[in-house]
Amino acid sequence: MILDGRKVQEKRLELLREDIDESGLRPVLATVMAGNDPASELYVRMKHRACEQVHIGSVGITLPATATTKDVVAKVKILDRDPEISGILVQLPLPPSIDTPMVIEAVSPSKDVDGFHPENLGRLFSGRPLFSPCTPLGIITLLDEYRIDPAGMHAVVIGRSIEVGRPMAALLLSRDATVTICHSKTRDLEALASSADLLVVAVGKPRFAGPSMVKEGAVVIDVGTNRVDGQLVGDVDFERVKDRAMAITPVPGGVGPMTITALMENTYLAARRSLCQEPW
Ligand SMILES: NC(=O)c1ccc[n+]([C@@H]2O[C@H](COP(=O)([O-])OP(=O)(O)OC[C@H]3O[C@@H](n4cnc5c(N)ncnc54)[C@H](OP(=O)(O)O)[C@@H]3O)[C@@H](O)[C@H]2O)c1
Repeated sequence: MILDGRKVQEKRLELLREDIDESGLRPVLATVMAGNDPASELYVRMKHRACEQVHIGSVGITLPATATTKDVVAKVKILDRDPEISGILVQLPLPPSIDTPMVIEAVSPSKDVDGFHPENLGRLFSGRPLFSPCTPLGIITLLDEYRIDPAGMHAVVIGRSIEVGRPMAALLLSRDATVTICHSKTRDLEALASSADLLVVAVGKPRFAGPSMVKEGAVVIDVGTNRVDGQLVGDVDFERVKDRAMAITPVPGGVGPMTITALMENTYLAARRSLCQEPW
Protein backbone atom coordinates (compact mmCIF):
# COMPACT_ATOMS: atom_id res chain seq x y z
CA MET A 1 0.00 0.00 0.00
CA ILE A 2 1.33 3.42 -0.95
CA LEU A 3 0.65 6.03 1.73
CA ASP A 4 -0.29 8.89 -0.56
CA GLY A 5 0.48 12.15 1.23
CA ARG A 6 -0.68 14.28 -1.69
CA LYS A 7 -4.13 12.72 -1.75
CA VAL A 8 -4.54 13.08 2.01
CA GLN A 9 -3.25 16.66 1.83
CA GLU A 10 -5.81 17.55 -0.82
CA LYS A 11 -8.65 16.12 1.26
CA ARG A 12 -7.58 17.70 4.55
CA LEU A 13 -6.81 21.13 3.10
CA GLU A 14 -10.23 21.24 1.48
CA LEU A 15 -11.89 20.42 4.82
CA LEU A 16 -9.69 22.98 6.55
CA ARG A 17 -10.65 25.70 4.05
CA GLU A 18 -14.32 24.98 4.68
CA ASP A 19 -13.78 25.18 8.45
CA ILE A 20 -11.87 28.46 8.15
CA ASP A 21 -14.52 29.99 5.89
CA GLU A 22 -17.29 28.95 8.26
CA SER A 23 -15.41 30.27 11.31
CA GLY A 24 -15.18 33.80 9.96
CA LEU A 25 -11.61 33.90 11.32
CA ARG A 26 -8.68 35.22 9.32
CA PRO A 27 -5.65 33.26 10.57
CA VAL A 28 -2.30 34.66 9.45
CA LEU A 29 1.01 32.80 9.23
CA ALA A 30 4.27 34.77 9.26
CA THR A 31 7.39 33.14 7.86
CA VAL A 32 10.87 34.41 8.68
CA MET A 33 13.97 33.43 6.75
CA ALA A 34 17.49 34.76 6.42
CA GLY A 35 19.62 34.50 3.30
CA ASN A 36 18.62 33.03 -0.04
CA ASP A 37 19.09 29.30 0.21
CA PRO A 38 17.13 28.00 -2.82
CA ALA A 39 15.68 24.99 -0.93
CA SER A 40 14.44 27.25 1.91
CA GLU A 41 12.98 29.70 -0.61
CA LEU A 42 11.14 26.84 -2.29
CA TYR A 43 9.75 25.49 1.02
CA VAL A 44 8.59 28.97 2.08
CA ARG A 45 6.88 29.48 -1.31
CA MET A 46 5.10 26.13 -0.92
CA LYS A 47 3.89 27.11 2.57
CA HIS A 48 2.57 30.46 1.32
CA ARG A 49 0.81 28.72 -1.57
CA ALA A 50 -0.88 26.32 0.87
CA CYS A 51 -1.95 29.31 3.00
CA GLU A 52 -3.63 30.84 -0.05
CA GLN A 53 -5.41 27.57 -0.76
CA VAL A 54 -7.00 27.37 2.70
CA HIS A 55 -7.65 31.12 3.10
CA ILE A 56 -4.93 31.68 5.70
CA GLY A 57 -3.21 35.04 5.24
CA SER A 58 0.55 35.03 5.01
CA VAL A 59 3.38 37.45 5.62
CA GLY A 60 6.89 36.61 4.43
CA ILE A 61 9.92 38.29 5.98
CA THR A 62 13.31 37.68 4.37
CA LEU A 63 16.41 39.10 6.00
CA PRO A 64 19.78 39.26 4.26
CA ALA A 65 22.31 36.47 4.89
CA THR A 66 24.38 39.08 6.75
CA ALA A 67 21.62 39.63 9.36
CA THR A 68 22.72 39.16 12.97
CA THR A 69 20.95 37.14 15.67
CA LYS A 70 19.78 40.46 17.13
CA ASP A 71 18.25 41.51 13.78
CA VAL A 72 16.33 38.24 13.39
CA VAL A 73 15.18 38.18 17.03
CA ALA A 74 13.98 41.80 16.70
CA LYS A 75 11.89 40.92 13.61
CA VAL A 76 10.43 37.84 15.29
CA LYS A 77 9.48 39.88 18.35
CA ILE A 78 7.64 42.47 16.24
CA LEU A 79 5.59 39.68 14.64
CA ASP A 80 5.09 38.04 18.01
CA ARG A 81 3.53 41.21 19.45
CA ASP A 82 1.25 41.73 16.43
CA PRO A 83 -2.26 40.51 17.32
CA GLU A 84 -3.04 39.97 13.60
CA ILE A 85 -0.38 37.24 13.37
CA SER A 86 -1.63 33.82 14.50
CA GLY A 87 1.53 31.79 14.02
CA ILE A 88 5.23 32.30 13.27
CA LEU A 89 7.46 29.91 11.38
CA VAL A 90 11.22 30.40 11.30
CA GLN A 91 12.52 28.65 8.19
CA LEU A 92 15.52 26.50 9.09
CA PRO A 93 18.40 26.26 8.61
CA LEU A 94 19.34 29.85 9.41
CA PRO A 95 22.84 30.97 8.35
CA PRO A 96 25.47 29.45 10.70
CA SER A 97 26.36 32.87 12.16
CA ILE A 98 22.86 33.11 13.69
CA ASP A 99 22.05 31.62 17.10
CA THR A 100 19.11 29.44 16.00
CA PRO A 101 17.89 28.39 19.49
CA MET A 102 17.77 32.06 20.51
CA VAL A 103 15.59 32.90 17.49
CA ILE A 104 13.27 29.94 18.14
CA GLU A 105 12.89 31.01 21.76
CA ALA A 106 11.89 34.53 20.66
CA VAL A 107 8.61 33.09 19.35
CA SER A 108 5.93 32.79 22.06
CA PRO A 109 4.92 29.17 22.67
CA SER A 110 1.35 30.22 21.76
CA LYS A 111 2.47 31.30 18.25
CA ASP A 112 5.05 28.55 17.76
CA VAL A 113 3.16 26.62 15.08
CA ASP A 114 6.33 24.67 14.21
CA GLY A 115 6.44 23.32 17.78
CA PHE A 116 10.22 23.78 18.19
CA HIS A 117 10.16 26.08 21.24
CA PRO A 118 11.67 24.19 24.21
CA GLU A 119 8.48 24.76 26.18
CA ASN A 120 6.42 23.14 23.43
CA LEU A 121 8.87 20.24 23.08
CA GLY A 122 8.75 19.78 26.86
CA ARG A 123 4.96 19.78 26.80
CA LEU A 124 5.04 17.24 23.97
CA PHE A 125 7.21 14.91 26.04
CA SER A 126 4.96 15.45 29.07
CA GLY A 127 2.07 14.20 26.94
CA ARG A 128 0.24 17.57 26.79
CA PRO A 129 1.44 19.26 23.60
CA LEU A 130 0.34 22.76 22.59
CA PHE A 131 1.72 22.39 19.07
CA SER A 132 3.49 19.27 17.82
CA PRO A 133 6.25 19.69 15.22
CA CYS A 134 4.69 19.52 11.77
CA THR A 135 6.60 16.62 10.17
CA PRO A 136 5.95 14.07 12.94
CA LEU A 137 2.39 15.38 13.39
CA GLY A 138 1.79 15.02 9.65
CA ILE A 139 3.07 11.44 9.80
CA ILE A 140 0.66 10.58 12.63
CA THR A 141 -2.18 12.12 10.61
CA LEU A 142 -1.18 10.06 7.57
CA LEU A 143 -1.18 6.86 9.66
CA ASP A 144 -4.60 7.80 11.07
CA GLU A 145 -6.00 8.44 7.60
CA TYR A 146 -4.93 4.95 6.52
CA ARG A 147 -6.20 3.48 9.82
CA ILE A 148 -2.76 2.26 10.81
CA ASP A 149 -2.74 2.17 14.60
CA PRO A 150 0.77 2.26 16.12
CA ALA A 151 -0.50 0.92 19.49
CA GLY A 152 1.54 -2.09 20.56
CA MET A 153 3.82 -1.90 17.51
CA HIS A 154 7.58 -1.83 17.83
CA ALA A 155 8.36 1.52 16.21
CA VAL A 156 11.98 2.24 15.29
CA VAL A 157 12.86 5.85 14.51
CA ILE A 158 16.23 6.35 12.82
CA GLY A 159 17.37 9.93 13.53
CA ARG A 160 17.20 11.96 16.74
CA SER A 161 16.89 15.55 15.51
CA ILE A 162 14.77 18.09 17.40
CA GLU A 163 12.72 18.66 14.23
CA VAL A 164 11.89 15.06 13.37
CA GLY A 165 13.34 12.08 15.27
CA ARG A 166 12.72 13.08 18.89
CA PRO A 167 9.20 14.50 18.51
CA MET A 168 8.31 11.54 16.27
CA ALA A 169 9.31 9.18 19.06
CA ALA A 170 7.28 11.19 21.60
CA LEU A 171 4.16 11.13 19.42
CA LEU A 172 4.47 7.40 18.71
CA LEU A 173 4.90 6.75 22.43
CA SER A 174 1.79 8.79 23.14
CA ARG A 175 0.03 6.48 20.64
CA ASP A 176 1.15 3.46 22.68
CA ALA A 177 3.90 2.20 20.38
CA THR A 178 7.04 0.69 21.92
CA VAL A 179 9.68 3.08 20.61
CA THR A 180 13.38 2.68 19.86
CA ILE A 181 15.35 5.75 18.75
CA CYS A 182 18.48 5.09 16.68
CA HIS A 183 21.26 7.43 15.59
CA SER A 184 24.74 7.44 14.16
CA LYS A 185 26.25 5.77 17.24
CA THR A 186 23.68 2.98 17.45
CA ARG A 187 25.21 -0.51 17.40
CA ASP A 188 23.75 -3.07 15.02
CA LEU A 189 21.27 -0.69 13.45
CA GLU A 190 20.26 -3.30 10.88
CA ALA A 191 19.09 -5.77 13.54
CA LEU A 192 17.06 -3.08 15.31
CA ALA A 193 15.55 -1.62 12.14
CA SER A 194 14.60 -5.02 10.77
CA SER A 195 12.74 -5.83 13.98
CA ALA A 196 10.43 -2.83 13.51
CA ASP A 197 6.73 -3.13 12.76
CA LEU A 198 6.85 0.60 11.98
CA LEU A 199 10.09 2.08 10.67
CA VAL A 200 10.59 5.86 10.39
CA VAL A 201 13.76 6.90 8.57
CA ALA A 202 14.93 10.51 9.08
CA VAL A 203 18.65 10.40 8.41
CA GLY A 204 19.24 12.68 5.40
CA LYS A 205 21.15 10.06 3.36
CA PRO A 206 19.79 8.97 -0.03
CA ARG A 207 18.45 5.36 -0.09
CA PHE A 208 20.01 4.70 3.33
CA ALA A 209 17.50 2.00 4.33
CA GLY A 210 17.46 -1.02 2.03
CA PRO A 211 15.65 -4.38 2.25
CA SER A 212 17.95 -5.71 5.00
CA MET A 213 16.62 -3.01 7.34
CA VAL A 214 12.97 -3.71 6.66
CA LYS A 215 10.92 -6.52 8.16
CA GLU A 216 8.48 -8.28 5.84
CA GLY A 217 5.08 -6.61 6.35
CA ALA A 218 6.42 -3.48 8.08
CA VAL A 219 5.04 0.04 7.70
CA VAL A 220 7.83 2.26 6.32
CA ILE A 221 7.84 6.05 6.63
CA ASP A 222 10.49 7.85 4.59
CA VAL A 223 11.17 11.38 5.84
CA GLY A 224 14.28 12.01 3.74
CA THR A 225 14.44 14.65 1.04
CA ASN A 226 17.78 14.43 -0.74
CA ARG A 227 18.68 15.95 -4.10
CA VAL A 228 20.49 13.45 -6.32
CA ASP A 229 21.20 14.53 -9.92
CA GLY A 230 18.37 17.04 -9.71
CA GLN A 231 15.89 14.40 -8.46
CA LEU A 232 14.28 14.23 -5.02
CA VAL A 233 15.27 10.94 -3.37
CA GLY A 234 14.22 9.60 0.03
CA ASP A 235 16.22 7.94 2.81
CA VAL A 236 14.63 4.60 1.89
CA ASP A 237 15.52 2.58 -1.18
CA PHE A 238 11.90 2.61 -2.32
CA GLU A 239 12.24 0.30 -5.34
CA ARG A 240 14.00 -2.44 -3.36
CA VAL A 241 11.88 -2.11 -0.24
CA LYS A 242 8.36 -1.59 -1.58
CA ASP A 243 7.55 -5.29 -2.05
CA ARG A 244 8.61 -6.18 1.50
CA ALA A 245 6.63 -3.43 3.18
CA MET A 246 2.94 -3.63 4.00
CA ALA A 247 2.74 0.15 3.54
CA ILE A 248 5.28 2.76 2.45
CA THR A 249 5.46 6.51 1.78
CA PRO A 250 6.85 7.65 -1.59
CA VAL A 251 9.31 10.53 -2.03
CA PRO A 252 8.13 12.94 -3.25
CA GLY A 253 4.43 12.83 -2.35
CA GLY A 254 4.53 11.15 1.07
CA VAL A 255 5.69 12.97 4.20
CA GLY A 256 6.38 16.37 2.53
CA PRO A 257 2.73 17.29 1.78
CA MET A 258 1.72 16.07 5.25
CA THR A 259 4.22 18.45 6.86
CA ILE A 260 2.59 21.40 5.10
CA THR A 261 -0.88 20.13 5.99
CA ALA A 262 0.07 19.96 9.67
CA LEU A 263 1.45 23.50 9.50
CA MET A 264 -1.85 24.81 8.12
CA GLU A 265 -3.81 22.92 10.77
CA ASN A 266 -1.55 24.21 13.56
CA THR A 267 -1.95 27.80 12.30
CA TYR A 268 -5.74 27.55 12.35
CA LEU A 269 -5.53 26.03 15.85
CA ALA A 270 -3.38 28.99 16.97
CA ALA A 271 -5.95 31.45 15.59
CA ARG A 272 -8.83 29.67 17.34
CA ARG A 273 -6.93 29.54 20.61
CA SER A 274 -6.10 33.24 20.46
CA LEU A 275 -9.85 33.89 20.52
CA CYS A 276 -10.39 31.24 23.19
CA GLN A 277 -12.45 29.19 20.73
CA GLU A 278 -10.23 26.24 21.56
CA PRO A 279 -8.78 25.36 24.97
CA TRP A 280 -5.05 25.76 25.56
N1 LIG B 1 9.63 15.75 4.22
C1 LIG B 1 9.70 16.70 5.13
O1 LIG B 1 8.76 17.46 5.34
C2 LIG B 1 10.94 16.85 5.92
C3 LIG B 1 10.96 17.62 7.08
C4 LIG B 1 12.14 17.67 7.83
C5 LIG B 1 13.27 16.98 7.39
N2 LIG B 1 13.21 16.28 6.22
C6 LIG B 1 14.35 15.50 5.75
O2 LIG B 1 14.54 14.42 6.65
C7 LIG B 1 15.91 14.10 6.73
C8 LIG B 1 16.34 14.17 8.19
O3 LIG B 1 16.14 15.48 8.65
P1 LIG B 1 16.66 15.97 10.09
O4 LIG B 1 16.41 17.43 10.17
O5 LIG B 1 16.09 15.07 11.13
O6 LIG B 1 18.24 15.69 9.90
P2 LIG B 1 19.47 15.86 10.89
O7 LIG B 1 19.20 16.93 11.89
O8 LIG B 1 20.67 15.94 10.03
O9 LIG B 1 19.50 14.47 11.69
C9 LIG B 1 19.88 13.29 11.07
C10 LIG B 1 19.85 12.19 12.07
O10 LIG B 1 20.26 10.98 11.42
C11 LIG B 1 21.24 10.33 12.20
N3 LIG B 1 22.18 9.60 11.35
C12 LIG B 1 23.05 10.11 10.45
N4 LIG B 1 23.77 9.12 9.89
C13 LIG B 1 23.35 7.97 10.47
C14 LIG B 1 23.73 6.60 10.34
N5 LIG B 1 24.69 6.23 9.49
N6 LIG B 1 23.08 5.69 11.08
C15 LIG B 1 22.11 6.05 11.94
N7 LIG B 1 21.71 7.33 12.12
C16 LIG B 1 22.33 8.28 11.39
C17 LIG B 1 21.96 11.43 12.96
O11 LIG B 1 22.55 10.86 14.11
P3 LIG B 1 23.42 11.74 15.19
O12 LIG B 1 22.39 12.48 15.99
O13 LIG B 1 24.15 10.72 15.97
O14 LIG B 1 24.28 12.64 14.37
C18 LIG B 1 20.81 12.39 13.25
O15 LIG B 1 20.17 12.07 14.47
C19 LIG B 1 16.62 15.08 5.81
O16 LIG B 1 16.74 14.48 4.53
C20 LIG B 1 15.65 16.24 5.72
O17 LIG B 1 15.79 16.96 4.52
C21 LIG B 1 12.07 16.19 5.50
